[in-house]
Amino acid sequence: MYPELDKEIAEFTRRTPKSAEAHKKNLKRIPLGVASNYRAYDPYPIFVQDAQGSKFRDLDGNEYIDHNLCFGAIMAGHCHPAVMKAVEKRLSLGTMFGMPHNMEWELAEEICARFPVEMVRFGNSGTEATMHAIRLARAATGRDKILKFEGGYHGLHDAALVSVKPHEPDFGDVNAPTAVPGGLGVPKASIDNVVVASFNHLASVELRFQQNPGQIAAIILEPIMMNVGLLMPQPGFLQGLRDVCTKNGALLIFDEVKTGAKLGWGGASEYFNVKPDMICLAKSIGGGLPLAAFGASRAVMDLISQHKVFHGGTYNTNPVSMAAGLATFREVLTRENYALVDKLSKKLTEGYRKTVAKVGLQAYIASAGANGALMFYPKEIVNYRDWAAIDIDLWRHYWFAMVNRGVMPQPYWWDEQWTISVQHNEADIDKHLAAFDDIAAALATSQQARMVVAR
Ligand SMILES: Cc1ncc(COP(=O)(O)O)c(C=O)c1O
Repeated sequence: MYPELDKEIAEFTRRTPKSAEAHKKNLKRIPLGVASNYRAYDPYPIFVQDAQGSKFRDLDGNEYIDHNLCFGAIMAGHCHPAVMKAVEKRLSLGTMFGMPHNMEWELAEEICARFPVEMVRFGNSGTEATMHAIRLARAATGRDKILKFEGGYHGLHDAALVSVKPHEPDFGDVNAPTAVPGGLGVPKASIDNVVVASFNHLASVELRFQQNPGQIAAIILEPIMMNVGLLMPQPGFLQGLRDVCTKNGALLIFDEVKTGAKLGWGGASEYFNVKPDMICLAKSIGGGLPLAAFGASRAVMDLISQHKVFHGGTYNTNPVSMAAGLATFREVLTRENYALVDKLSKKLTEGYRKTVAKVGLQAYIASAGANGALMFYPKEIVNYRDWAAIDIDLWRHYWFAMVNRGVMPQPYWWDEQWTISVQHNEADIDKHLAAFDDIAAALATSQQARMVVAR
């Protein structure tokens, strides 16, 4: 029983009948009625008509300020003029060659200038980037095992789809969490090669290395865990991982699929001043088109040059995505635009904090770079297990209530976070904050009532 949530969902269905209709049609032929499981939610997902700048419209003509931005993949905002110009220019010159071209070295130079890598290869999705990075790390070390963190998300391949969203009672010891498959079809052999540790818990990492001597090829992590809202590494944690890797001859892989473009000009390694051995990039580097890259030192990447590690892909460096990527690096992900987004982020974060304090909501705001999240916890979380204690229906109340007021505050799902694009402006942030101010008292009242019942 949650009457406030029911009321918001009723309003959502009243506003979006064409999405409901379209979803029914999709359901006939497409599992869950969506192209990626993350897009499915009850009662049905909003179907998009079009998007421009910081906003999109649904099939019913409702307009939303968009902080979903394709799960954070368009920090450029929709149809950024520089990206559109570059893409339109390329479209009539050939969309796929399967042969090299000049934009490859140009974009590789842009990436190597910002990130601590000497060579890169390109792909189309974050999943590809982490899959190839892991394979390279295995090849470079001659070891099979990978250490990842409980709750960390690195895409959909077998090595990554482990302990992404485990549930009690499968957790196991917090010092040595159980490796739990993220669904059927992940082979046991793959799971056996994934060693899980707890984020912000160096002792668990050291223990895992002791338990698997000479067997762990790499640690892969998001420097800021963004599969649990937004979880910052505690001071010293990333450097500690760097040291553990160096000591044990393992590689440190920063999965910067989200943080790479959105945290700041030089991604997480610049932000935290910790140097990984490999990085994975995707999402916002493409400015709205599919583009990914992974990179490392020349010594590691030369395993590909020497034909010892195989990497390929029909769609790699397709000129349309590459043109978009070049325009994004040169004209969107500029230091000036990061300063602009930081200013908007500060305004949004402070506005939320004021309202949270005013209504007595037990929550806090976590933010970094273009990302942030309203975290429904009385105190800051430090790992996945803390995150798992969220009041999901309270979060759903927040999300539907905001959406009904014309603001998509973040993607649906309480493990996500908002993105601010370079095309958002002060007026968008004011509208976002006004919507939150409008619903915050009801959220606080519901939260208190639910806490009383839970006691
Ligand atoms: C940190 C991280 N790594 C990898 C991926 C996988 O990227 P893609 O969905 O492009 O395959 C994601 C996607 O959300 C991600 O957030």
